[in-house]
Amino acid sequence: MLSPNPSIESLAKTAGEKFRKRFGKEATLLAAAPGRVNLIGEHIDYCDGFVLPFAIARTVIIAAAPNGTDAVQAATDFTDEIAAFSVLPQQAKGSPKWSNYLRGVIHGFHLREMQVPGFDAFIISSLPGGAGLSSSAALECAVATLIEGLTGTEIGTKEKALLAQKAEHDFANVPCGIMDQYASAFGQDGQLVLIDCRSGEPEMVPFDRDDLTILISNTKVSHELSDGGYASRRKNTEDGLAAVGKASWRDVSQADVDAAKSKMDEVTFRRSRHVVGEIARTIGAVEALKKADFTEVGRLMYESHDSLRDDFEVSCPELDHLVKTASKLEGVIGARMTGGGFGGSTVTLCEAGKAADIAAALVKSYEAEFGFAPEIFASRPSAGARLL
Ligand code: GLA
Repeated sequence: MLSPNPSIESLAKTAGEKFRKRFGKEATLLAAAPGRVNLIGEHIDYCDGFVLPFAIARTVIIAAAPNGTDAVQAATDFTDEIAAFSVLPQQAKGSPKWSNYLRGVIHGFHLREMQVPGFDAFIISSLPGGAGLSSSAALECAVATLIEGLTGTEIGTKEKALLAQKAEHDFANVPCGIMDQYASAFGQDGQLVLIDCRSGEPEMVPFDRDDLTILISNTKVSHELSDGGYASRRKNTEDGLAAVGKASWRDVSQADVDAAKSKMDEVTFRRSRHVVGEIARTIGAVEALKKADFTEVGRLMYESHDSLRDDFEVSCPELDHLVKTASKLEGVIGARMTGGGFGGSTVTLCEAGKAADIAAALVKSYEAEFGFAPEIFASRPSAGARLL
């Protein structure tokens, strides 16, 4: 019932073969960038909070070669649509829709006064799209890494993440925070990426245990972050902060939120309560991890889920079902929804020896309830964006 993670070697081989078949020549570059799962710290990366994601063993891989022209030609195995457009400055949104991730990243290099040569590319992915696992950030970071390879210039990990985030804002219309692109760019094997979203500094928190497994369960219920739910939550938090009258959520306590209650509507109050609580929970989870107190980590994960369901209202019946079912299974330490919500995936921390049974029980229960199976896989913290 546990879906396997294809190895990076087999993905690289497939991407190279597909490139050769499509373009009739050999790829000269292979760029990979992973998706992410967030252990805790949800919907607070745009609130100066702390978040704790890690790069997962599911990636986007691009096989490419310069083509000696001023144009990109890109094909993928997730759609038949080809992207063909100029690499010259003045990039604008266009079709197909997915080409905007490439256009946005190329635009970012132009903003840094770098020229991008024309190239051919074949893109494949082991990362399910629309699963709340940052397939778009992975694509953006993979394209940015590819362009570093094409130009022979490294722009730096932080710069790459910021460039990718701006592509998401300006070319995909999602006003996201920094978590996804940081996780994809900074990810390292065996390390969680603790991001201080006020300072913009990442810190690696080791998580390298054979006795524990992290399961990712994709509900296969898809969400569109650009359809308003995400932006409206972001707006709620801005309204909440204005009512509290502080410059940053990091300086706000629950007592401050309570004191400003009369200046907020009921929804804004609940959104604010989530932000302050989730920042505290994330700090608590990092302290617990450093002490190897996984019971406490699990407790905080459940609390995070409840807050996202009740106060932030970004969960859905499918996510709630997976978390509730997991919480009753032997060997499960903690579970919560992960990512933007409105569908997508849950993250479950469990005992390694029971992971397969837990996954099987989750599939069975979910299928009985909703009539279709979720996809469940395990992932340890894995490497971030890189050239292969
Ligand atoms: C999406 C966004 C992130 C973050 C999460 C919620 O994944 O892209 O920046 O806000 O939602 O934590």
